Amino acid sequence: MSSTATPSVKAIFESMEYGPAPESAELAQAWLMRHERSFGHFVGGRFVDPVDGERFATTHPGDGAELAQVAQGGAADVDAAVRAAQEALPAWQALTPFARSRHLYALARHVQKHARLLAVLEALDNGKTLRETRDIDIPLVARHFYHHAGWAQLRDSEFAGYEPVGVCGQIIPWNFPLLMLAWKVAPALAAGNTVVLKPAEFTPLTALAFAEMAAEAGLPEGVLNVVTGDGRTGAALVAHEGLAKVAFTGSTEVGRIIRQATAGRGLKLSLELGGKSPFIVFDDADLDSAVEGVVDAIWFNQGEVCCAGSRLLVQESVAAAVEEKLRARMETLREGPSLDKAMDIGAIIAPVQLDKITRLVEQCKAEGGRCYQPSWAQSVTRDGGLYFPPTLFSEVAPSSAAAQEEIFGPVIVSMTFRTPAEAVELANNTRYGLAASVWTENVNLALDVAPKLEAGVVWVNCTNVFDAASGFGGYRESGYGREGGREGMYEYLKPSWEARLEPYREAPGGVPDGAALGAGAPGGEEAIDRTAKLYIGGKQTRPDGAYSYPVLGADGVHLGEAPLGNRKDVRNAVEAARKGTAWTKATAHNRAQVLYYLAENLDARAGEFGARLRAMTGARKADAEREVAASVQRLFTYAAHADKYDGAVHATPLRNVTLAMPEPWGVMAVVCPDEAPLLAFVSLVAPALAMGNRVVSVPSPRWPLAATDLYQVLDTSDLPAGALNIVTGDRDELAAVLAKHADVAAMWYVGSAEGSTAVERESADNLKATWVNFGDRRDWFDPEQGEGREYLRRATHVKNIWVPYGE
Ligand code: NAI
Ligand code: MG
Repeated sequence: MSSTATPSVKAIFESMEYGPAPESAELAQAWLMRHERSFGHFVGGRFVDPVDGERFATTHPGDGAELAQVAQGGAADVDAAVRAAQEALPAWQALTPFARSRHLYALARHVQKHARLLAVLEALDNGKTLRETRDIDIPLVARHFYHHAGWAQLRDSEFAGYEPVGVCGQIIPWNFPLLMLAWKVAPALAAGNTVVLKPAEFTPLTALAFAEMAAEAGLPEGVLNVVTGDGRTGAALVAHEGLAKVAFTGSTEVGRIIRQATAGRGLKLSLELGGKSPFIVFDDADLDSAVEGVVDAIWFNQGEVCCAGSRLLVQESVAAAVEEKLRARMETLREGPSLDKAMDIGAIIAPVQLDKITRLVEQCKAEGGRCYQPSWAQSVTRDGGLYFPPTLFSEVAPSSAAAQEEIFGPVIVSMTFRTPAEAVELANNTRYGLAASVWTENVNLALDVAPKLEAGVVWVNCTNVFDAASGFGGYRESGYGREGGREGMYEYLKPSWEARLEPYREAPGGVPDGAALGAGAPGGEEAIDRTAKLYIGGKQTRPDGAYSYPVLGADGVHLGEAPLGNRKDVRNAVEAARKGTAWTKATAHNRAQVLYYLAENLDARAGEFGARLRAMTGARKADAEREVAASVQRLFTYAAHADKYDGAVHATPLRNVTLAMPEPWGVMAVVCPDEAPLLAFVSLVAPALAMGNRVVSVPSPRWPLAATDLYQVLDTSDLPAGALNIVTGDRDELAAVLAKHADVAAMWYVGSAEGSTAVERESADNLKATWVNFGDRRDWFDPEQGEGREYLRRATHVKNIWVPYGE
């Protein structure tokens, strides 16, 4: 970008050209030299040579220069690191919260102390601008450790009843290398876990520098281990038996692979994946601010940002004005060397990424998109660096690849809309759901639109702002789990009662297999009269296959027939739930009233339900009565919670109100165990309903009649159609269909270990959030295990809405 000869003062005055403003690379180069430009893994508090000795280069994308050789971790390296983390765990957990807090505080201090080294090293390894690493990445890293030093201190009081999960395997991408480390490592350590982290192959250096600083800061050995390498190393880490939790940020494709690889292993999993976030400009927006917003949305970090505002949606009446302003602003952007402090855009991470961007841009042109790049785009001197100019596409069709695929580069596509409703529809027309920006001077409009956007973060009149106190994470194919804030801490904790659970026992009997079925499924008229039905869309319906199965009592007596629901019935139930939006739109007060009413109506028929339970399970009278009474109480619990489990206003350090709102998933599947057939059903369905989800439920296959007897109770309790759907039949067969169903956003499964595995595995494609019991048996009568905030937390996900204030 810079010319070779030094211009005269007069010439500078006339041209008003920027001169070069380079930051010195000396500190970073000295650090690299001190390590002879060659690194092993960081395991057990020190650098160790890789077991198999293979190494590869990490380079500076701005000129291709090699910075250092790093180790390609193999299974033995991963194993050594996980063992170190396991060995460190007892002593780390034995520390007081205060002692752990001081360690996190020391990490924050060390990041600040070495801020300059880290900022330069990050800019070199990644190719991003120093302006951003110095002013954004590194300060946010320090802030993250300070914030989590606080959570460490408060863990036992703020998360009573929860405990750390154990060893965490964490895999991070190359776009914000140290910041992603901080987002992963800080909450894991604050909660009392130990960590094996694998940085991305293109950007391992700041993680290694950080690990070294952590040791220098006195972090006990083995608490934080870093294994470098590419995707193969990541896969080896995910495969390791010693992990209790996997946290991943990266592509949706690899997220799916990790979901598959971890299915059924009893791990906690959080995935932060891709995005194609909308940037919505209404006609009353401050257009100049909005244009600056676009710069921050898509040209921040070369557009290599998972939550980049990459789809510009502009209200038609101002579209021409916005485009004109945007083109003028693009002209003044500066792209070039990372360490030049006056640069806006740096280099793309690697040739493979540059190729991907180029290919998608060519495709967009071929699809008829109108491409604009600034006049200087082709004329910059790039010294062999991997640069791509800022690019704006207009006249893009909403269904085109350019509008749907994550480009992960400095390319924005623009479309227009006429009404707010159309804006919301266009914004949600994506398989992702990470973030969204809304620009309008009308607070009513902004706060009307924000809850309708299916995205984990909504920025009003701002974009790409982050803080440790506010959770971050996606909806739909952008993944699940949150990083930051209170909700981020839960990702590294588990309820203490989980460790006390007994293995699940399948009740004897249940749905007979095919052969027995033929005999037990009479198709005649009288038989149908004795057969319970499915409950779909507020109506009792016959199963699609017209099959039923016998429900036998404890003494072998034939109590009746239950419908054998199939794939088609599940689809119908999901469709009914999808349409049952009235329940989600109902006020929390309203939902509470319906749940109270349900409880009352159940209570009024307690005798009948008690008798039914006794006949099915052979329970003693007192126990059956106790189960009905507990079910009534449980409904009261969730009626009570419906308008009390609410959000927070976070104290983020900007002039900003950050609203953290728990939102229902939408359509949830709930698959129930055999034991306590009424109480377990109520315990699982009621919290999901209380939070506003529409539910497709599968009651106990062995004893389904407690649920099918509820139909009359439901009919008299004002529950809107589609809010609760009940499909009886083979638990694991129905569960597999629900897990695969793309319109089911979240799923709970309580049954066998095999069934739990299948649910996790089958959810990999559509990336629904799942909560399974891994074959453990809960005591539904114990309020600690059978009810409470864990259920409500799992029935919702948090959306953070940032609303800045001030003139
Ligand atoms: P990636 O998902 O392959 O890499 C992310 C991390 O996962 C890296 O540390 C990588 O080594 C590791 N990894 C790769 N394969 C793995 C496996 N099978 N098991 C475990 N770990 C594995 O992303 P990549 O290839 O760097 O970029 C490809 C595309 O992904 C980008 O073009 C972009 O669209 C998207 N991406 C999204 C990010 C986000 O923050 N959401 C970050 C990076 C990339
Ligand atoms: Mg590099």
